[in-house]
Amino acid sequence: MTTVQFIVFAVIMTFLISASYAGYSAAPFWPSKKRECQNVIKSVKLKEGQKFYELGCGSGTILFSIAKKYPEAMFIGYDISIFPFLYARTKKLLGRYTNTKIQMKNLFKQDLSDADVVFVFLMEKCYPRLTQKFAQELKDESVVVFQGWALPEIKYEKMNRPDDTLPLYFYRGAQFREML
Ligand SMILES: C[S@@+](CC[C@H](N)C(=O)[O-])C[C@H]1O[C@@H](n2cnc3c(N)ncnc32)[C@H](O)[C@@H]1O
Repeated sequence: MTTVQFIVFAVIMTFLISASYAGYSAAPFWPSKKRECQNVIKSVKLKEGQKFYELGCGSGTILFSIAKKYPEAMFIGYDISIFPFLYARTKKLLGRYTNTKIQMKNLFKQDLSDADVVFVFLMEKCYPRLTQKFAQELKDESVVVFQGWALPEIKYEKMNRPDDTLPLYFYRGAQFREML
């Protein structure tokens, strides 16, 4: 194997390993659809200076759409898989989204104590771990939006599903602590 072949092999393997880890940990990369972004934009309200987190932001489709609507709020996206992370980072640079941060980090290890809104489009298998984390870190009034699947143990405050898109389920930070 030549040096170039070895480098290409190593790069491909790194991409594959990070993607596999993401799938195992919380969800594989599955970009949100345009009409799902519209649904989120219509349902989520943010004020100046508030912070919106997307845990597993993928290509940033949701994050950038809503960041455009609220230029005075702050948007933070975490993803652990290299391909979607690089894609989102490139989009951020090209689109000059100054109110967004895209970071290649494990979502389970990031502090969410200053979050006003947390958006989640992940597989149900990681919900028990997420609910524990939310119970420990979120402010009572923080809004948590789950796209796709509701939490089995907590009754959502509100549900929204227009036009055949995946439903959105809304919770408050305080609800996670009440469950403990
Ligand atoms: C269903 S996709 C989200 C798609 C995103 N809404 C979009 O529009 O592109 C879930 C994302 O979570 C990421 N992910 C999975 N486990 C993770 C972890 N432990 N830390 C950070 N990101 C993770 C995956 O890499 C994937 O990109």
